[in-house]
Amino acid sequence: MPQAIVMTEYGGPEVLRGQIVDPGTPGPGELRVRQTAIGVNFHDVYVRTGLYKTLSLPGIPGIEAAGVVTAAGRDTDGFAPGDRIAYVTSSYGAYAEERILPAALALRLPDALGDVAAASILLKGMTACMLLQHVHQVRPGQTVLVHAAAGGVGQLLCRWATHLGATVIGTVGSEEKARIARACGANHVILYRSEDFVARVREITAGEGVDVAYDSVGRDTFLGSLDCLAYLGKLVNFGQSSGPVDPLAPSRLAARSNALFRPILFHYVRGRAALEAVAGATFQAIAEGVLRPDPALQLPLAEAGKAHSALEGRQAPGPIVLVPDAG
Ligand SMILES: NC(=O)c1ccc[n+]([C@@H]2O[C@H](COP(=O)([O-])OP(=O)(O)OC[C@H]3O[C@@H](n4cnc5c(N)ncnc54)[C@H](OP(=O)(O)O)[C@@H]3O)[C@@H](O)[C@H]2O)c1
Repeated sequence: MPQAIVMTEYGGPEVLRGQIVDPGTPGPGELRVRQTAIGVNFHDVYVRTGLYKTLSLPGIPGIEAAGVVTAAGRDTDGFAPGDRIAYVTSSYGAYAEERILPAALALRLPDALGDVAAASILLKGMTACMLLQHVHQVRPGQTVLVHAAAGGVGQLLCRWATHLGATVIGTVGSEEKARIARACGANHVILYRSEDFVARVREITAGEGVDVAYDSVGRDTFLGSLDCLAYLGKLVNFGQSSGPVDPLAPSRLAARSNALFRPILFHYVRGRAALEAVAGATFQAIAEGVLRPDPALQLPLAEAGKAHSALEGRQAPGPIVLVPDAG
């Protein structure tokens, strides 16, 4: 019988415990999937600690994985046993050897993209696509600010935005990360823990400011990001790595007619057409080499707690993937 990580309480990495779970048989519109690689994301940490109360307990966490279809119910849009698929989901259940998945979420994996690579990049790549092509459309000649530019999503934003012809200003927490951000194409890099990033952005843009600021850091950078914007510039706050952002009066946006966005990927991929548009553009960016999956730290599913400790402690230089078969 297959194993899954079942959370019965919120807490530290130790609450991620393995348990035998029978996934059952797929009903209409459903697939049974044997999972081969499971992505580990900051979202999973927020769910584990209870910061997000979006997983009902007891429950199986995890929002992205790759695998092989082993059984298909009726009306599954052509999916059949043997198909290689990947998915992202807001309904959890990814930390499992086998699961039932709505076929509406399944994405056919390109032959050239391995399972581990897919599970390490799909959610982050689709997030970058949402940010650069849907929340704001980055055009050649625009200037873009990317906070935590050496992070998972940050690296992909640097690569893709420069490919689209933008000038990218990245902020990072260390010299080592500055090298990573530059290698990903950032034209200017600011060490935002030791430099005044607002003053530096104004200097780099000759006082004009940036067309869009992508801010996943939240509390520590939010108001500064607003001060970096050009007239009509957009502030896109898509994460809160340093903590939640304080309330903001709309009048604060009036100084330069700025706009504020707080997007969530799952809202941009509701419905098959929207999902395929975002996933298709992401797979294409990978196929063209615009986005490159970094080598992932692979751990057995049973070591999910260790994976979370590595993520929180920033011990892994790249993505982390749980591999059920590795146990
Ligand atoms: N809205 C969405 O739909 C969506 C989708 C995917 C991800 N996200 C969010 O995007 C953010 C980035 O995700 P990721 O997986 O790519 O993570 P990541 O960027 O690899 O890691 C977060 C980075 O944030 C920076 N940071 C600044 N203050 C921090 C603090 N107090 N604690 C920890 N890190 C801090 C660190 O970089 P430096 O050392 O360079 O400062 C760290 O490397 C996360 O907040 C995630 O929740 C949102």
